[in-house]
Amino acid sequence: MTDLGVTNSDGYRLGRDYLAASRLNLQHFLYKDAQGFLLHPVIQASLHHQKELRQAGSKDSLQIADLATGTGIWLFDLAKSPELRGLDVQYRGFDISTALFPHNSWLPKNVVVSTSNLLEEPPQSLHGQFDVVHIRLVLSLIRSGSPKPIIQHIKTLLKPGGYLQWDELDPFNHYDVLTPDSDTKAPNMTATFQKIKERANWSWIARLPNTLLEEGFQEAAQNPHEPASEMMKAWTYMDMLTAEELSLNWLGADYDDGKAWRQLIPKAYEEADQSIGAVLRLRPTVTIARKPL
Ligand SMILES: C[S@@+](CC[C@H](N)C(=O)[O-])C[C@H]1O[C@@H](n2cnc3c(N)ncnc32)[C@H](O)[C@@H]1O
Repeated sequence: MTDLGVTNSDGYRLGRDYLAASRLNLQHFLYKDAQGFLLHPVIQASLHHQKELRQAGSKDSLQIADLATGTGIWLFDLAKSPELRGLDVQYRGFDISTALFPHNSWLPKNVVVSTSNLLEEPPQSLHGQFDVVHIRLVLSLIRSGSPKPIIQHIKTLLKPGGYLQWDELDPFNHYDVLTPDSDTKAPNMTATFQKIKERANWSWIARLPNTLLEEGFQEAAQNPHEPASEMMKAWTYMDMLTAEELSLNWLGADYDDGKAWRQLIPKAYEEADQSIGAVLRLRPTVTIARKPL
């Protein structure tokens, strides 16, 4: 997360890794609340079914990988969750940086985290090793580019018949400012988040299922998940933090543009209060697909 560090004019380094990590951990809670699951129910059912098919006494554990794992929060939560209770699972987290990982001494016994670049070919020892590969929130890595190199990386990691789950935000299609009274507008909040929409060509996100089919996956499907209305203010605050961070350090954004963007944010914050009650309704999308047997 080194790209999140920016030094202010008084020498104070903004966007420290711990701020990014705290935001990711909060975001995890919001994702889980909106989705209602960590692992898609189709994938859960497949893993439980596999256990039934395995011969009694089989020593093989199921293998689940989380790419660009960040703090590892999704893996740690899944390892404790009732979703896979009764299954023998080994969890592997990969990220380009170790900055946000807990120290190895604090990890559960069935979780290993290590470095890996998902834009490169995975090491031979990991080819075809995973029953499930999960990835979340890598849109800033792809921006207007193509997800295909990442899809190929994932396909290489999966066993035949293994599942991909890709959780992503879609600023083009599932990112709307709402007010309780439709006649009342929230121009500053709208402008704050419009800047994120304009920052890149995010159309690859809605196209992910088609792209996965083109890359040889099967059963590709995508669904947006509606947050509960009482949670939309929490999503709004979280995304204001994202907007502030991006206004400071989005590569290629010029300084004046960033400054003008930051000046909108306190006004957007005021529009979120009781007088207007504006919120950002952000529906995370979950895309799943299967590598052919
Ligand atoms: C927005 S964070 C998402 C973290 C996590 N997936 C989550 O949802 O909590 C993006 C993560 O991608 C990682 N990352 C960036 N470039 C990467 C690369 N080329 N290969 C692997 N990870 C990368 C960053 O270090 C960061 O931890």
